[in-house]
Amino acid sequence: MMNDPSASAEIVESGDNAACALEYVDLRDWLAEVEKRGDLKVVTGASWEKDIGQVVEVMCHDEGTPSVVFDEVEGCPKGFRILVNWFTGTRKNLTLGFPSNLNKLELSQSYHQHTKNLDPIQHEIVEDGPVFENVIEGDDIDVTKFPSPLWNPADGGRYIGTGCFNITRDPDTGWINCGTYRVMVHDEKRVGLYISPGKHGRIHRDKYMAKGDPMPVCIVVGSDPLSFLTSSTEAPEGMCELDMMGAYRGEAIKCVTGKHTGLPFPANSEIVIEGFIHPGNTAPEGPFGEWLGYQGGQMEAEPWVDISAIYHRDDPIMLGAAHIRMPYEYARYRAISRSAVLKENIARAGVPDVDNVWAHEVGGSRLFLAIGIKQRYPGHATQAGHIAATCHAGAYLGRIVVVVDEDVDVSNLEEVIWAVCTRCDPASGIDIIHNMWSSALDPVISPDDRKAGKLYNSRAIIDACRPFHWKEEFQEVNAPTPEARREAWDKWGHLRD
Ligand SMILES: Cc1cc2nc3c(=O)[nH]c(=O)nc-3n(C[C@H](O)[C@H](O)[C@H](O)COP(=O)(O)O)c2cc1C
Repeated sequence: MMNDPSASAEIVESGDNAACALEYVDLRDWLAEVEKRGDLKVVTGASWEKDIGQVVEVMCHDEGTPSVVFDEVEGCPKGFRILVNWFTGTRKNLTLGFPSNLNKLELSQSYHQHTKNLDPIQHEIVEDGPVFENVIEGDDIDVTKFPSPLWNPADGGRYIGTGCFNITRDPDTGWINCGTYRVMVHDEKRVGLYISPGKHGRIHRDKYMAKGDPMPVCIVVGSDPLSFLTSSTEAPEGMCELDMMGAYRGEAIKCVTGKHTGLPFPANSEIVIEGFIHPGNTAPEGPFGEWLGYQGGQMEAEPWVDISAIYHRDDPIMLGAAHIRMPYEYARYRAISRSAVLKENIARAGVPDVDNVWAHEVGGSRLFLAIGIKQRYPGHATQAGHIAATCHAGAYLGRIVVVVDEDVDVSNLEEVIWAVCTRCDPASGIDIIHNMWSSALDPVISPDDRKAGKLYNSRAIIDACRPFHWKEEFQEVNAPTPEARREAWDKWGHLRD
């Protein structure tokens, strides 16, 4: 509304969504395409202690900077590589399989159209795959030879698992879940996981531990970016993300099974760590510079995985998804996928006329949600805001939900704040919800409450819509019609060059 009309979301409002056509199968294909586009830099001889984290700080805050692959990292074999800065610029579109000319809101809308009615396609078990090119077991296991960085100077260790996903099985139902949970290297044969309470992997783990049984787990450290994205997107309970990955691609994901756990993982994975969490085995984990932009505290007693096997392709590539202060790529990719999932969740809860949704990058795509509606009845905005704050995609570690009218571009932070400033009367327009789902990572939870497990926070639902019962009399916006705006830009836009 306030910007160059060519950057607005108007073309998508026509319902003209682009078709999904993925140009890659695995991480290597994806990298080859990026290299062809001239979007890839290769750095050799970097240190895992410092250099990789420094490069991330320099590259990842800004949109459109090249991807970087590190090879010959100090102390690691040549060919053992790590990729960073991959979800930015038009690589977002490449990763999700959509044309490069879609802006982020259009991309999210196309992603939403493509995913909303997908039926899962069951993964297919095959005998062999590239991931078994190297099978390492017993005394030969050494997870420290992969180029896992110390991403932030104050991290408690090297993190091999950032752009990873962890595969577990529900001991009662057999449901296979994939979720991205950070993975720290303890030593050659042990890695530690941090899984927040309520996450599906944590529910599985709690069940095993309650029975006194070891929990089998496989950790995929290098996958194609889309599979990683799928595994870190909220899927309903009981849904296997491997089958969602297949649904997105339109064909079953070929999986091999771990020799020790029997768990399935994609046959074209780059590196897979397989092992067991044994009841009672815990160690300090973290601290880790987290997505909220803070150096989260150390977790006192998190379980570790005893590694039974490492499988990897020749010259394996790790997928890195480093956390730094916003804005950065984590927030960018979660914004696109969460906005789509959130819109679907709200619609499925029965809220009509949800025009657009944006999970803002500045809040790590969780803490600041903007919901655009076409108001139909008194209470519509309150209903939409409360559902957004409490549905599956919006419930975890949220903070602020703003509901705006459909004339506001939800993906434009300035427009959303303008609506808050001008259409919300704070005394009547802000609802507070108490005792909501949060996490030990939440900076507003006091150290005492964290220790006591009081991991709650509150939510503000801000109604920034024109008051429903007199909205027709609300002052008119001082902005030209789209046609008049386009005419002004066509005539005078050159003055800005
Ligand atoms: C890069 C990245 C790192 C993440 N790290 C963690 C983590 O350490 N622990 C956690 O509980 N969730 C983490 N998440 C969020 C979960 O992956 C996400 O909530 C996902 O939906 C969990 O899967 P689930 O719904 O199957 O439990 C991370 C997400 C990303 C993208």
